[in-house]
Amino acid sequence: MKFFVDTADTEEIRELSDTGFLDGVTTNPSLVAKTGRDFIEVVKEICDIVDGPVSAEVAATDFETMLEEGKKLAGIAENVAVKVPLTMAGLKTCSQLVKQGTQVNVTLCFSPAQAILAAKAGATYVSPFVGRLDDIGQDGMNLIGDIVQIYNNYTAIQTEVLVASIRSPMHIVNAGLMGAEVCTIPPQVFKQLISHPLTDKGLAAFMADWEKSGQKIL
Ligand code: G3P
Repeated sequence: MKFFVDTADTEEIRELSDTGFLDGVTTNPSLVAKTGRDFIEVVKEICDIVDGPVSAEVAATDFETMLEEGKKLAGIAENVAVKVPLTMAGLKTCSQLVKQGTQVNVTLCFSPAQAILAAKAGATYVSPFVGRLDDIGQDGMNLIGDIVQIYNNYTAIQTEVLVASIRSPMHIVNAGLMGAEVCTIPPQVFKQLISHPLTDKGLAAFMADWEKSGQKIL
């Protein structure tokens, strides 16, 4: 499974990139706004930090402007994946950009029917938002299971399922059980992935016993 981080904060991206576990980055207009920085500059900087795909989202809602914005974003660096919303204009933009060799992430996917359309538009990634479905009382992971199953029925579909709007490590575990290709993970959930109280307790006990033994390895 590939791990992307869902942030536009370059310090957080640097820190996670140093772990060697980071395969890419996703940003969105809300995450960019949170940084207070210039969008194009931030995307450039992120693309210098990571080699993997960096999702940068268009801001227009009409096809013509979206396409122009997408071309501009794709020109920033080779590893930019242009992010478009799951609307008719977004899907048309996706088809055009993919034909030109640009990676495209179709975002704001909330149904299997929408995911089928994203695949038909040739999307590199489709981003179903699991946490936001959970927030309204639906089971976000059911959507992932349905999309993975549908995509697996067709060898021609190359679109990867990018699980987005992740709220906890269990979303990632379940995404793995279902066979989703990518998870985009908020930095705080990235940190939660490694922690377990029994690991801390077990390590403290081993260290205490080692100390008592008076031995040294080096
Ligand atoms: O970047 C898209 C998605 O991951 C946003 O998540 O937490 O705003 O629902 P969230």
